[in-house]
Amino acid sequence: DITIGVLTSGGDAQGMNAAVRAVVRMGIHCGSDVYVIQEGYQGLIEGGDKIHRTKWFDVSGIIELGGTVIGSARCMGFKEREGRRTACLNLIKRSITHLCVIGGDGSLTGANKLREEWTSLVEELHSLNKITVEQKATYKKLHIVGIVGSIDNDFCGTDMTIGADSALHRIVDCVDSIATTAHSHQRTFVLEVMGRNCGYLALCAALSCCADWVLIPESPPEEGWENQMCERLNRAREYGSRLNIIIVAEGAIDRNGNAISADYVKKICTERLNQDTRVTVLGHIQRGGRPSAFDRILGTRMGCEAVLALLDSTDETEAAVIALKGNQMVRIPMMEAVAETQEVGKAIAAKNFARAIELRGRTFNR
Ligand code: F6P
Repeated sequence: DITIGVLTSGGDAQGMNAAVRAVVRMGIHCGSDVYVIQEGYQGLIEGGDKIHRTKWFDVSGIIELGGTVIGSARCMGFKEREGRRTACLNLIKRSITHLCVIGGDGSLTGANKLREEWTSLVEELHSLNKITVEQKATYKKLHIVGIVGSIDNDFCGTDMTIGADSALHRIVDCVDSIATTAHSHQRTFVLEVMGRNCGYLALCAALSCCADWVLIPESPPEEGWENQMCERLNRAREYGSRLNIIIVAEGAIDRNGNAISADYVKKICTERLNQDTRVTVLGHIQRGGRPSAFDRILGTRMGCEAVLALLDSTDETEAAVIALKGNQMVRIPMMEAVAETQEVGKAIAAKNFARAIELRGRTFNR
């Protein structure tokens, strides 16, 4: 029998509750004790009632809720070794040997660091008289598994991350709403959507809503793109369109790596085309609200598979992330996937856009 801990960390994403619920229930179903850790790594460090044993019906009525009911945080303390040592102690106090972390690449990196340092942290705790010699002998390893919750769909190795589908639905709803007022007043709208290093939401929203132009970080436009865009917008109006829609990912840049803001795009449309142009930044509305059916099912499947991965884990097993590949749940090496994900950001920063697209291409279907 194993004791499992589950936490959500980093930015929340719709569908995280489905994953938490599945980890709790699958864990109980398989005969394990399951503890929920509130407020991510912050709760792991604080301990006390932030880490509590959870029963089957404690996770009733959460699958349909957005966000994460167990709370999340971007925790600085966990980046310090002392914070991780306290986290280690809090896990040992509750006999938690298996941890499921639901978050983005940063959260998974933190989990892996804790796993790697585990043995030395346990030794430190013993030498500080915080744990007994029996505890030191019992808690030799920490087993971890990751599930990626991120509305950006920015993790390499999985076709979809939890929350991306719901966020895309929300964006599409917003664009559809804006289109009606744009149509009435013959206006142009520039919409900024989330996605720091990842254009998935912007690109898919543009395709779904027949936008006139889209700007994403992985594929910055050629020099002179402003003229091309203006031509395209003009042509649409000449063919009778009463509106133009432009989608800008928050991380959009030009070929020199300079940010392209929604306000800059507005300026172009206003000054060069004399179009009545408005900017709408969708912001956190994309991350809020109810999860789509897809995200509820994805979270559930990933949560169940995460428990099975923890049950299969031996002292030699590498940390895994649960991924969706071709509609199958698979386990992929955590740190390889994290490294590849971070490589996309580095490739964009180095203006190696071909590499960024190549890495994304493994996730997004052509
Ligand atoms: O990573 C998800 C995300 O929603 C990004 O798209 C966005 O840049 C960021 O989180 C915003 O984070 P915060 O809510 O901490 O401001």
